[in-house]
Amino acid sequence: VTTDETAGEIDHEVADLDLAELGRRRVGWAEANMPVLARIRHRFAKERPLAGLTVGACLHVTAETAALLRALVAGGATVVACASNPLSTQDDVAASLVADDRIAVHALRGEGHDQYYAHIDAVLDAHPDLTMDDGCDLVSRLHLERPGEVGRVLAGTEETTTGVVRLRAMEREGALGYPIVAVNGADTAHLFDNRHGTGQSTLDGLMRATNMLIAGRKVVVAGYGECGKGVASRARGMGASVIVTEVDPLRALEAVMEGFRVLPMAIAAGEGDVFVTATGNKGVITREHLAMMRDGATLANAGHFDVEIDLPALEQLAGGRRRTVRPTLVEFDLSSPAESGESSRRLYLVADGRVVNLGAAEGNPPAVMDLSFASQVLVLEWLIAHRQELEPRVYEVPPEIDAHIAQLKLETMGIEIDALTDSQRAYLASWKLGT
Ligand code: ADE
Repeated sequence: VTTDETAGEIDHEVADLDLAELGRRRVGWAEANMPVLARIRHRFAKERPLAGLTVGACLHVTAETAALLRALVAGGATVVACASNPLSTQDDVAASLVADDRIAVHALRGEGHDQYYAHIDAVLDAHPDLTMDDGCDLVSRLHLERPGEVGRVLAGTEETTTGVVRLRAMEREGALGYPIVAVNGADTAHLFDNRHGTGQSTLDGLMRATNMLIAGRKVVVAGYGECGKGVASRARGMGASVIVTEVDPLRALEAVMEGFRVLPMAIAAGEGDVFVTATGNKGVITREHLAMMRDGATLANAGHFDVEIDLPALEQLAGGRRRTVRPTLVEFDLSSPAESGESSRRLYLVADGRVVNLGAAEGNPPAVMDLSFASQVLVLEWLIAHRQELEPRVYEVPPEIDAHIAQLKLETMGIEIDALTDSQRAYLASWKLGT
């Protein structure tokens, strides 16, 4: 733990506090584009619903997350934060949170495995009353390494689908020690954050990393969940021909009826120019798939963990012949030594196979994080108000919070909608009125 004059007594470990000024401006820009969260922050500043509570947050440390953490502080919370991915921290934002907001941040872009967990431990050392997680690493570490401390946590939230899958496994095994709300289950979160947010920011990451022209490429999207839908539709909108791979028949059918080609990966692997994984599962692109890819094929992962592409196999196939060609792009030379010139085969990996929208771009834009982070803060408030009634289970976001956020967002966008008339309401409530 390092401290210095600017940050006073705040425990922290960030890359460079001199970046704070840059970070502050970036956070200001994000906040200006997160009007729903701003409204809630103003109310929180008056009502202080989180007074006296410590929130331990394991999130991507971005400008949008800074806006979220500042709203928690406005609500009276003490906040301790670490990163939910070793490659997603924006160092200038981390510096600003420490220097300007006096929030204890333990996060560095590019931190190693041990440092990543040391930072999670630093958050747990603060004995949070509430946890806010993105991917379940904080919650799983707490339950596995400090079972004796689980009981003092009141409640928590989880931001992402991958984290919810892990939480449901904990719930099934009776291992979950306190109630956690799956924020991603809210319509205002997954419909917009995943489809519009991840859809756009994944393409953004791919383009920043490579500067490639998307038009005319064959883009293979693995997984047709909300994220995959977003990536596929954005890639098509930019002129790519898109192939979807799926394991779920219903989703495969959805993709077919949207006009996408659907193929098994074993065939798509030999056809694609660009591969984007968005499944939340491991082993989606295997050694066999890598071995059949065309020269110049580019690989990116939009899922939470770096397990979707078999990275050890990629390293092995290249036998050490790898070089960084651009800041977040690594070339792997898979040509056999006898091959040269036109028969050579090089594959390109974006952002080390880590979550591409945050590793190679800035994550989902603030306008969409506004929705899921508004859910985060309102859900925390709800958890505190209802904590006596809740059991150690995974809960969905209460529908009234979802509807409230959608309404607020429309208001901030200046969009009005119709309301049901009394007679329409009566019609919907009646079973006697037919043809
Ligand atoms: N997840 C995806 N995009 C994000 C962002 N901009 N900030 C925090 N978490 C994110």
